[in-house]
Amino acid sequence: MKPLYCGVDFGTTNTSVALCDGDKAWAIPLDAHNDAPTSLPSLLYISSEGDKIVGRRAADAFIARNVDREVKLRQVDLGVAVEAYVGAEPDKSDAYNPALVDSNVRQAMRARATLEVNSPGRLFQSLKTLLRQPAFKSTEVFGVKYQIEELIAYILDVAKTRLEQEMGAPIERAVFGRPVRFSEDGDENALAEERLRTAAQLVGFKEVLFFYEPVGACVEYAVDVADKQRLMVVDIGGGTCDVCIMEFQSGGTVAKRLASSAIRSVAGTPVAGDALDREIIRTKMFPLLGSRARYGPSQLPMPQHIYNQILDWQNIYKLNTEETINWLLAAEASSNYPEGLRALRCLIRRNYGYLLAREVESAKKRLSETDATRINIVREDIAIEELLEREEFGHIVETTLERMLASIVEAETRAEVQPEQIDFVLTTGGTCLVPAVQAMLKERFGVDRLRSRDTFTSVASGLAVVASHTF
Ligand SMILES: Nc1ncnc2c1ncn2[C@@H]1O[C@H](COP(=O)(O)OP(=O)(O)OP(=O)(O)O)[C@@H](O)[C@H]1O
Ligand SMILES: [Mg+2]
Repeated sequence: MKPLYCGVDFGTTNTSVALCDGDKAWAIPLDAHNDAPTSLPSLLYISSEGDKIVGRRAADAFIARNVDREVKLRQVDLGVAVEAYVGAEPDKSDAYNPALVDSNVRQAMRARATLEVNSPGRLFQSLKTLLRQPAFKSTEVFGVKYQIEELIAYILDVAKTRLEQEMGAPIERAVFGRPVRFSEDGDENALAEERLRTAAQLVGFKEVLFFYEPVGACVEYAVDVADKQRLMVVDIGGGTCDVCIMEFQSGGTVAKRLASSAIRSVAGTPVAGDALDREIIRTKMFPLLGSRARYGPSQLPMPQHIYNQILDWQNIYKLNTEETINWLLAAEASSNYPEGLRALRCLIRRNYGYLLAREVESAKKRLSETDATRINIVREDIAIEELLEREEFGHIVETTLERMLASIVEAETRAEVQPEQIDFVLTTGGTCLVPAVQAMLKERFGVDRLRSRDTFTSVASGLAVVASHTF
């Protein structure tokens, strides 16, 4: 039997792995509970008893146990005195009036931490995005401290175990993908790769080589083609948009194709599907949760920091303090839009942040198939049934799409090629299914040169091919 080599694509949303025997590569099923078993949702649920659940069942466990549940929080005095500027966090809304806030008012306060007392578990999503954040070193879950590398290792461990079952032997080396830019900041980029390497080592990979994810997708396509070609890959996933331009010379065998290939340029930006979801939440959901409401005798605008926390649903629970809830109750009583503020309070109190994020993501995906859809979240005091049309969605995400286009232009500039000098543009990653992204690519390259590759496994397959010719 030929030796097998493996490629690992740890994604912001989905993780996939593939094996290659030197000629062919194939993706390995990782999650029997997922619609597409070859992709493992990059989700981790840690229960209060310390159980870890990875993949589709992590989301199911969170919804079954945590949603609809009244979170109880306890404020713990950390015994440290600090001083805060009361008006230090300016409200960024259009209606913000600096005259109403005196930023010089200082207030003595005690440093306190908010603990969830009755939570059955915590769900982690988009962990890959945390890799680049120097400030996020670890988090405490039910009294146990987990480093970011450890959290990711739980996901990689599932992938490695499945690979070993498939191969019938231990695996100690793999080619891992990495985005072109985890972050726009060079230091953060290096930190993210180092942390991913550590996570891989924690599960027993002794030798880890990194290749850019779009290079993986390019290799996956190009090794099966005999002609000389200049290819661009546009891989837009959940967290990053990655582009590369590669050239392959004519030649038959996989080894020959790879040996003759050259990476002409790479470019990328940490903006992708998660950013599109946030834009929908910001423009379509926030107003229904009172973001434009006014409250109090002076009819002040709502503090925007509350909404910023909701954009990152994993932190919403921190808003669920008696202080904030009481404040919201008071604001509601004097508001010109009490229904919105009541819905906001319900969202915070009953832990509906993940449901909101999930419903918005599902609606976004439906818009890849249909012209209009509704975002429905009807629970207790929340009665959202908002229409979202594909055209409107296109407008909402225009600026985000411009950042993706900038990466494409950057890759062309670095490679010193014009769009018409590219033979084929290969698209992969879930966000390339968004019609507005397709339209952007069609406008630049024309429909005939676009080739869509397997959305969720092409990167891992290509990385496995690279592994088989590198190790
Ligand atoms: N049919 C669809 N229409 C629009 N968006 C989609 C569709 N299917 C998936 N997505 C989006 O694609 C993203 C996930 O894509 P993918 O699995 O390629 O990302 P990833 O590889 O995990 O992330 P990254 O490569 O950025 O680390 C999510 O934002 C998801 O909402
Ligand atoms: Mg990806």
